[in-house]
Order: sequence, then C-alpha cells, then structure tokens
Amino acid sequence: MTIQTFDIDPAWHDVGAVTDIPERGSRRVATAQGDVAVFRTGDGQVFALVDRCPHKHGPLSQGIVHGHGVTCPLHSWVIDLATGQPTGADAGKGCTPVVPVRVQDGRVLLAQPVMAG
Ligand code: FES
Repeated sequence: MTIQTFDIDPAWHDVGAVTDIPERGSRRVATAQGDVAVFRTGDGQVFALVDRCPHKHGPLSQGIVHGHGVTCPLHSWVIDLATGQPTGADAGKGCTPVVPVRVQDGRVLLAQPVMAG
C-alpha cells in the first residue's frame, strides 16, 4: 500500500478516495492489525470498523449497508456503524471495534494505530 502524507496530518493514513467506496457500500482495507471495513452511507458519511462481526467473525465489509448500520452476511445481525454494537434482539452481545476515520479533501483517512504502512 502506498501511503500519501502530503498536507495531511501524519497521524492519519490515506487509504483512498471516498468515491472508491460505493454509496451504501463498503471497502475492505488490509492492515497489519487485520482487515478494516470502511463504509459509506447513503447520506455521505464514512465509518470504519474492524472487519469482524462480534457474533462469529463474519466479514462486515461484505454486508448490506442501510441507514447507519450493516447487516452481517452470515447470520444477519445488524451492527451500528458508529458504535460497532449489535442492535435489536442482539444488542449487548459483544462489539466490533470502531476504527477512527475521517474524510479530508475527498480522501479517506484512517488513524495511525490501525495502519502498518
Ligand atoms: S457472524 Fe455475523 S451474524 Fe453471525
């Protein structure tokens, strides 16, 4: 992976253009600490979670994004993108770690602690 640091705070790493993530979709980013799922919602917000469902570690990056949630492709738990917590009947049954993410000048930036370079 090429890391671009130009006028971006070096504590954050550029992982691509926000437009590389389909609207109401996601993209998987490989890091030394494991895969991260970066989501783009229908209202244009971007969220990032460790790409691992709290149930049986299903790949959330392959789930269906709706509102600010994602439905896991394996057993259909719904995970809140902002908190990593399951919702509805599965609330309180674990949590997927949230990865700090932000968008600057159309680029998606992930926080340093999850990135290897
Ligand atoms: S692994 Fe995600 S709902 Fe079972």
